[in-house]
Amino acid sequence: DNGFYGRDILSVSQFDRAKLDYIFGVGEEMRMLVERFGSADLLQGKILANLFYEPSTRTSSSFMAAMLRLGGQVIPINNVQYSSVTKGESLPDTVRTLESYSDVIVIRHPEVGSAATAAHYASKPVINAGDGVGEHPTQALLDLFTVQEALGAIDGLKIAMVGDLKFGRTVHSLTKLLVNYGVEFVFVSPDILRMPKDVIDVVNSSGHSYVETEDVHDCIGDADVLYITRVQKERFTDLAEYEAVKDQYVVDPALMSKAKQRMIVMHPLPRVNEISYAIDNDPRAAYFDQMRNGMYIR
Ligand code: NCD
Repeated sequence: DNGFYGRDILSVSQFDRAKLDYIFGVGEEMRMLVERFGSADLLQGKILANLFYEPSTRTSSSFMAAMLRLGGQVIPINNVQYSSVTKGESLPDTVRTLESYSDVIVIRHPEVGSAATAAHYASKPVINAGDGVGEHPTQALLDLFTVQEALGAIDGLKIAMVGDLKFGRTVHSLTKLLVNYGVEFVFVSPDILRMPKDVIDVVNSSGHSYVETEDVHDCIGDADVLYITRVQKERFTDLAEYEAVKDQYVVDPALMSKAKQRMIVMHPLPRVNEISYAIDNDPRAAYFDQMRNGMYIR
């Protein structure tokens, strides 16, 4: 037993360094498996229910691809508007239904704590694929796996997170996961989109230091990782506020010319305007590696 069998995955607070090393090792094995053989039958006969109440391309397809490549099957519910949710079915009842047909439930839902609610009602394991502005633990795992793979080690790195740090769940989970390592944090955002207090509290109580700034030029010269995020339009109640901040940060060739030769640019995707297409062929662009690694880690 590796400690994960039958367990829910709801928050990155469940992981320590030993567990992360174990997961990254398995991720590496999965990469070799897919590259050499394409698929295997490790999960033959198992069924995953993929329950998405919010839009998704990468997260839902990579969970699906992971299951299919390991010989399992998937019940995809990507259009909840065509499910009984539209008839007013509650989350507990939907979860109870799906667990009677499947062995594991992946859920993405707009409310913070929804994955934990689903896990409370389900006896089968539940994996949080994003609970509103809360967490996105499997994204943080694949992000960290990508950093380790690209830069060799995580200790000693200066990590700049840029953009919508308030509503971006990927940066919440990634920050909380990174406190397991000796890293320095720089949080770059407009004033109205600063990192929430509960995440800052985790940084402080783990003894890490951090810098907050609005200007990406303050850190571009010595960052090892530039993790930029989309401004989360769907979380704003006032669209004028969104319009005011939406294009504040753009990674373009001019900005990249100020960065270290070994820095990597990361983005959970989808991008809107945050990264110019001219960067896609820069060897420092790591966002396409992230999306591939998602399948191996999941
Ligand atoms: C992110 C998400 O859904 O939180 N996407 C993803 O899972 N890769 C980021 C985003 O939507 O901006």
